[in-house]
Amino acid sequence: MIREWLEALLTPAAPEVRRLGYVSELVAIGARERRQSAAWAAHLRETRAFVEGVATGGDHLVLLGSGRLLDVPLERVAPRYARVTLVDCVHPRAARRRAAACGNASCLAVDVTGSVAALARAGHRLPPVPTPDPLAGLPEPTTTLSLNLASQLPIMPLQWAEARGVTEPDRLAFGRALIDAHFAWLAALPGRVGVVTDIRRVYTAVGPPGQASVVETEDALLGARRPSPDRQWTWDVAPAGEIAPDLALALEVHAWSDWHRSAATAA
Ligand SMILES: C[S@@+](CC[C@H](N)C(=O)[O-])C[C@H]1O[C@@H](n2cnc3c(N)ncnc32)[C@H](O)[C@@H]1O
Repeated sequence: MIREWLEALLTPAAPEVRRLGYVSELVAIGARERRQSAAWAAHLRETRAFVEGVATGGDHLVLLGSGRLLDVPLERVAPRYARVTLVDCVHPRAARRRAAACGNASCLAVDVTGSVAALARAGHRLPPVPTPDPLAGLPEPTTTLSLNLASQLPIMPLQWAEARGVTEPDRLAFGRALIDAHFAWLAALPGRVGVVTDIRRVYTAVGPPGQASVVETEDALLGARRPSPDRQWTWDVAPAGEIAPDLALALEVHAWSDWHRSAATAA
């Protein structure tokens, strides 16, 4: 508890990012990973292997949603590039230290949707969804990876909107538009683009040994369309006991190793 409080206090972030809850969420992810390290191991192994397979080398590697770098084998992929940019609206101190130790990696603290500042300024109405441009001014990427990020984009904005009485249909339409805009922006990037994201949340009631039944599923991408994935796996993000004694949450994760190719094939 004190550890998390201190981390939240010491993590640098823009005021609007902190106010919308991104710092608390990043700290909570760290605490959850420490509690559930065994359950998370397979997902982190899969994502790291995926990153290693896509980030094969070149001038500029961009890692979107780098966060705590739990799913990023930074020290293995950074030497393959002249320059590495870690992109997140919050970079914890440990991630900043790892980036600095690489010598060619830097942290860009930016909201990839471009909507966070507008939300912080807005009264009780949702602002229009901006066209994202988080890499403005940087050299073109050779490789870009969107890392367990797409499903997260609506979470804080939708909490903000719910607290202000925005109707559910309007909230969901805004959330989906944020994800659609992210996918469209990725599709327009030069170079190779890889994407990993959870696409579905599966809640299971866990009874006596051998008894478990799915009680609810949620579309983590709010209906956003995407091509067929190259790989998929399950992330046991919250085994029974984490969010409730008899309820488990698992995420279905999809990965695309070449977003441009997958999108062209789907068209
Ligand atoms: C589930 S975490 C991804 C895991 C992360 N790669 C790691 O290993 O710790 C999602 C990340 O997306 C970031 N994020 C969420 N919304 C964002 C936004 N609008 N712009 C930039 N980063 C955002 C969060 O701060 C968080 O670090």
